[in-house]
Amino acid sequence: MTFPIDKLQTIRTPFYYYDTELLDATLRAIKSETDKHAGYHLHYAVKACANPKVLRHITAAGMGADCVSGGEIEACLKAGFPADEIVFAGVGKCDWEIELGLKVGIQYFNVESIPELEVINEIAGRMNKVAQVSFRINPNVDAHTHSNITTGLAENKFGIAMEDMEKIIRLADSLPNVNFVGLHFHIGSQILDMDNFVALSHRINELQDRLEAEGITEVKNINVGGGLGIDYENPDGHPIPDFKAYFDTYAKHLKLRPGQHLHFELGRAVVGQCGSLVTRCLYVKQGSTKKFVIVDAGMTELIRPALYNAYHKVENLTSKAPAETYDVVGPICESSDTFVKDYQMPGTQRGDLLAIRSAGAYGEIMASQYNCRPIPTGYVSEDNTSTFKTQHVDF
Ligand code: LLP
Repeated sequence: MTFPIDKLQTIRTPFYYYDTELLDATLRAIKSETDKHAGYHLHYAVKACANPKVLRHITAAGMGADCVSGGEIEACLKAGFPADEIVFAGVGKCDWEIELGLKVGIQYFNVESIPELEVINEIAGRMNKVAQVSFRINPNVDAHTHSNITTGLAENKFGIAMEDMEKIIRLADSLPNVNFVGLHFHIGSQILDMDNFVALSHRINELQDRLEAEGITEVKNINVGGGLGIDYENPDGHPIPDFKAYFDTYAKHLKLRPGQHLHFELGRAVVGQCGSLVTRCLYVKQGSTKKFVIVDAGMTELIRPALYNAYHKVENLTSKAPAETYDVVGPICESSDTFVKDYQMPGTQRGDLLAIRSAGAYGEIMASQYNCRPIPTGYVSEDNTSTFKTQHVDF
């Protein structure tokens, strides 16, 4: 991604900055790969980033949306996603969220349990509607990623156990206000080894064979969730993920039935590399054994390092001084409020502008107000300087 430093210097830090040229190039790369395969369609996983300006680029590229709350559905509608391009997942959907989905006419619900199916049927009945439902099956495939972002193992709370698959499909057939339209899977996030998606494909093939043997042949959509990772170590080396390898893996290993559609729910791979958290060095402090660069962003703006021990490259945008070794830390009263430790970076001083890279996904959207801090603003490349918040506050 590129940084218009003069422009960024005028904005009050910390803030998120999205390079929409890179975002659009990423969206074009996805489109050119999915267009090669009949019936492939992407629903962007809104949980990764719901910045309205980012969402508008994604819908303009013709993608649908994967939502996990009523709030996300509302954000998508506002950004211009057609309702019938929205799918809605989540283990704990509230009644009002189900009502909202039915009222606006979403494409389908990804249902995660029998009790949820019964409630959707009841609410749809009350509203005189038929809900389109797809079942999230827990495929018990290990994604070999961080334990907090693995979702497809039998012990996880997500989805319906494989052994209950036929039971829930038959139940749906017997209920008047739901219509079974597909199967949904998701094994985890930040997956870079394609073998994991091969394993998921094999599992889906087995399950489809099993359903056919049981006489269940009408499965309109297969949805394989998201999970494709990005290169956090080298964002400039790999600004656009290897979508060819990803989609080709499914094309090669997943046996779609004639006319069947294949849906994807990528989040991180779409927006991860186009966003950075821009922050300023407040102080450089010499500790007894270490030097600390104290910046004005913290775990409140980007929680991934504190929550998952995740690495994000830190780049000093304004210094060319010889490298030194620092811990880069935030201002929050928690020792886990540390971005990187023992990190080599150009000599840094108060006022330098730093970019915490690869923060487009699960960054801005996971910000909190802990310590009464304001939620950071997200800017995009095309924003007009007159809309920028400036460094100083008028009381
Ligand atoms: N579909 C479902 C059902 C999901 O649960 C998720 C992510 C996605 C799609 C999108 O996955 P992606 O393509 O972005 O990997 N906050 C964590 C990531 C949590 C992911 C949760 N589910 C992080 O910062 O790494």
